[in-house]
Amino acid sequence: MRALVYHGPGQKTWEEVPEPEIIDDGDVIVRVDATTICGTDLHILKGDVPEVRQGRILGHEAVGTVVDAGEGVQTLASGDRVLVSCISACGTCRFCREGRYGQCLGTGGWILGHKIDGTQAEYVRVPFADTSTYRAPASVTDEEILMLADILPTGYEVGVLKGNVGPGDLVAVVGAGPVGLAAIAGAQLFSPSHIVAIDLSDARLEAAKQLGADVIVNSSRQDPLKVIRDLSGDLTGRLGVDVSIEAVGTPETFEMAVTLVRPGGRIANVGVHGAPATLHLEREWMRDLTITTGLVDTSSIPTLMRLVTSGQIDAKRFITHHFGLDDFEAAYDIFARAADTGALKVVLS
Ligand SMILES: NC(=O)c1ccc[n+]([C@@H]2O[C@H](COP(=O)([O-])OP(=O)(O)OC[C@H]3O[C@@H](n4cnc5c(N)ncnc54)[C@H](O)[C@@H]3O)[C@@H](O)[C@H]2O)c1
Ligand SMILES: [Zn+2]
Ligand SMILES: [Zn+2]
Repeated sequence: MRALVYHGPGQKTWEEVPEPEIIDDGDVIVRVDATTICGTDLHILKGDVPEVRQGRILGHEAVGTVVDAGEGVQTLASGDRVLVSCISACGTCRFCREGRYGQCLGTGGWILGHKIDGTQAEYVRVPFADTSTYRAPASVTDEEILMLADILPTGYEVGVLKGNVGPGDLVAVVGAGPVGLAAIAGAQLFSPSHIVAIDLSDARLEAAKQLGADVIVNSSRQDPLKVIRDLSGDLTGRLGVDVSIEAVGTPETFEMAVTLVRPGGRIANVGVHGAPATLHLEREWMRDLTITTGLVDTSSIPTLMRLVTSGQIDAKRFITHHFGLDDFEAAYDIFARAADTGALKVVLS
């Protein structure tokens, strides 16, 4: 079969490799019908995730068809159409029993395209298949379902739920990439008073508006704190936001997310950080803040699947480009130059 293989920083090739086989009883082999590229794949290619070994097949998101199942697999059979989650779950460890699959102690967690071969291939082996895949409803397209593998649960769980967004809240989302946009779509489900989207790219801010941001701020030209304080006649606005969601992963944006929040407010960090960020406790110690962090669990997939199926979340809006499954070179190029190309999620199918 063909697969996208990582050969060290900056190097990947679409090449012939052996087809995956069942190794453990709980495995399935899935024929990949649709896959996509994540910002995290770009981090891997930059060399930011050194535990990814040379020779590893990249990718942690897919929708596909089961073609083979191990003897221990109970709920799936050949021919089933499934969503492959970016997080695998052994289903039995202490953390899986709490739905905290991202922290799985039983060799699950984020393993696809990281510790084992991933989904940017014609076929992929998925361990713990009963608890790591989700049946795809017939009424929804592969590419819509694909948005549930990573970005929608990440924005919803690590941003909206950890930030405890509630009715009437003023919410700031720092970073309007696919994950920030997913947080905006998720926050809307809770009837906030305003969602303020902050980014440096006008194209992404336009997408944020389409997905439900009420106020957009290009922080290269405007001071987000001033915009929030000026929100007309709104007492909360003058104090800062109730919840700020950090969806970039830089020291500056984390510090911005802390600055924007009112006393007693909540900061939900979603961004993956590669460098230390400063928490100014000398200023913040008395402001009653709550800061949360997290790796996505994807435990919200069943809920989000219903919201996508019922049309309450329009997953199509996250998709900007389509490619054939063998066209990774062009797809990575378009995705990596998102500021110029306007790319959000690119689908290969
Ligand atoms: N916690 C998790 O489980 C989890 C899961 C998936 C992704 N992530 C992380 O979430 C973050 C967002 O992911 P994404 O795919 O949307 O990334 P992305 O790179 O596509 O989007 C980031 C956005 O931030 C904007 N930005 C950059 N610097 C900025 C600044 N100084 N001020 C305002 N905006 C700025 C960019 O213009 C871009 O639109 C990444 O760090 C990613 O690794 C975390
Ligand atoms: Zn990802
Ligand atoms: Zn587990």
